[in-house]
Amino acid sequence: MKRLALLLLPLLTSTCLAEAGSVPVRARNSMVVSQNAIASQVGASMLIAEGNAMDAAVATAFALAVVMPSAGNIGGGGFLVYRPARGEPVAYDFRETAPARASPTMFLREGKYDRVRHHDSHLAVGVPGTVAGLHRAWSEHGNLPWESLVEPAIAIAREGFMVTDGLARSLQKVLPEMQAHPASLAQFSRGGDPYEMGDLLIQTDLADTLERIAEKGAQGFYEGTTARLIEKEMERGGGLITREDLKAYRALRRTPLRGEYRGIEVLTMPPPTSGGVVLLEVLNVLEEFDLPGMGFGSAAYLHHLAEAMRRAFADRARYLGDPDFVKDMPVLRLVSKEYAATLRDTIRPRRASVSNPSTFEWPAESAETTHLSVVDSERNAVSLTYTLEAGYGSKIVVPGAGFLLNNEMGDFNAGPGLTNAEGLIGTEPNLAAPRKRMLSSMTPTILVRDGRPLLLLGSPGARTIPSTVAQTIMNVVDFKMNVQEAIDAPRVHHQWLPDLLRYERNGFSPDTLDILREWGHAVDEVDSMGAVEAVAVSDDGGWLEGGSDRRRPDGAAIGR
Ligand code: DON
Repeated sequence: MKRLALLLLPLLTSTCLAEAGSVPVRARNSMVVSQNAIASQVGASMLIAEGNAMDAAVATAFALAVVMPSAGNIGGGGFLVYRPARGEPVAYDFRETAPARASPTMFLREGKYDRVRHHDSHLAVGVPGTVAGLHRAWSEHGNLPWESLVEPAIAIAREGFMVTDGLARSLQKVLPEMQAHPASLAQFSRGGDPYEMGDLLIQTDLADTLERIAEKGAQGFYEGTTARLIEKEMERGGGLITREDLKAYRALRRTPLRGEYRGIEVLTMPPPTSGGVVLLEVLNVLEEFDLPGMGFGSAAYLHHLAEAMRRAFADRARYLGDPDFVKDMPVLRLVSKEYAATLRDTIRPRRASVSNPSTFEWPAESAETTHLSVVDSERNAVSLTYTLEAGYGSKIVVPGAGFLLNNEMGDFNAGPGLTNAEGLIGTEPNLAAPRKRMLSSMTPTILVRDGRPLLLLGSPGARTIPSTVAQTIMNVVDFKMNVQEAIDAPRVHHQWLPDLLRYERNGFSPDTLDILREWGHAVDEVDSMGAVEAVAVSDDGGWLEGGSDRRRPDGAAIGR
């Protein structure tokens, strides 16, 4: 009953949920935005119980691991940028690591690249980082007892929650891929039949695992029963992760990357994600152009965006990897204004550049990750993105432990020298190695103006993530949109190779696309890009606006 009351509390107070149209959720005290309404509500209940933004973010992340199994997780990893109202901002890196037995050639079979090994097998599973990351961030900045942050997730897993239309559709789609894993089928279907909207989804093994985490902290995951169950599943399926790998896992504290865009400070995530570097390169290149003068959605604007993105993604391929392994990464040079000026000089106003396909091509990445943003009454701010990599990760539920394992090893390059036109890359900085972190694109970000947070945001979408974050920032800063409008506005993406300017369906006029073609762009339609969950703070700090992306179901901004 106590638990139920906790979950319902926000609804009984002056909580506002999203209204129709491009109107953000407005509130004065605090705001939690995530890709699931129940999870946002859990976060809001922590704030009501006098927790701070970190408590709310951690509790929301645990709840997402129960109610949004496609990306919410304890078996994956991610990044968190924290800006306290007082004191220095800090970033947490809880990216998965390669197990000790990993090697640059581990995705080859008899010398040939094997896609299944790379993306769809027990070998594709990285050592999970989420529980260590959430625990470390909480232990350094949280306020409420650890157990109280995990408790709502335990209750929802044990007592069940109602399957939404969005979850029912997503589970129905993934079930065929779970056939090889009986524990996954048992957890996510009714004896093989898909769940329907309105069914109750109960996850007892997951509740037990969460209880061990609640009792013992990170040790409840990385040692003892949970670690044993993970190792057993790895042995069963030919994976490499051992109990030693799990015990050795550490979440790291890193210094956020700092940039500036039109006088606004941009705090974002450094490597091993490429997201922050790509974001700052794009913003720096575009800063000297009159974007409002070009107009939102104009061919001129889209052309300049694409050219900035093309250059930033070429640098991503060339230089970036795990900073603890790649010692000569020129990150500060890449995000400098001077370097941006040299890139800007190479952009021609009405002519697309050409990406050189003889050097790099890109493998397909899937689209499931999730972001949450929290601001509390003191204006502490948390921006957190985490993932299992593909939707439902490896599709492997650890038998007896009830959670899905990631397939993040697929973010390492395929193998040495394997760059080819069919879609592989084999560059050095991001080859697999023991205990190395694979390169990411996640971009949790906080904008700061006059010493106050201005905008918190992030998104799923693999390589489209930094492009999505950059466009949402420009929509707010340059095109003066409110946060919901900025999220709703159509997006484009360019990632150097393949040399395509991708745009969202029905987002731009055919005449605009014709002009872009004339200027030499190969334009390519996609259904949708990203799912931004963001909070904007008014100039005087008095109002918060939450925006949740309608491109995906179930998200909610909950303000108070
Ligand atoms: O770390 C990365 O960049 C990818 N593994 C994230 C995957 C992703 O965003 C898929 N989501 N939409």
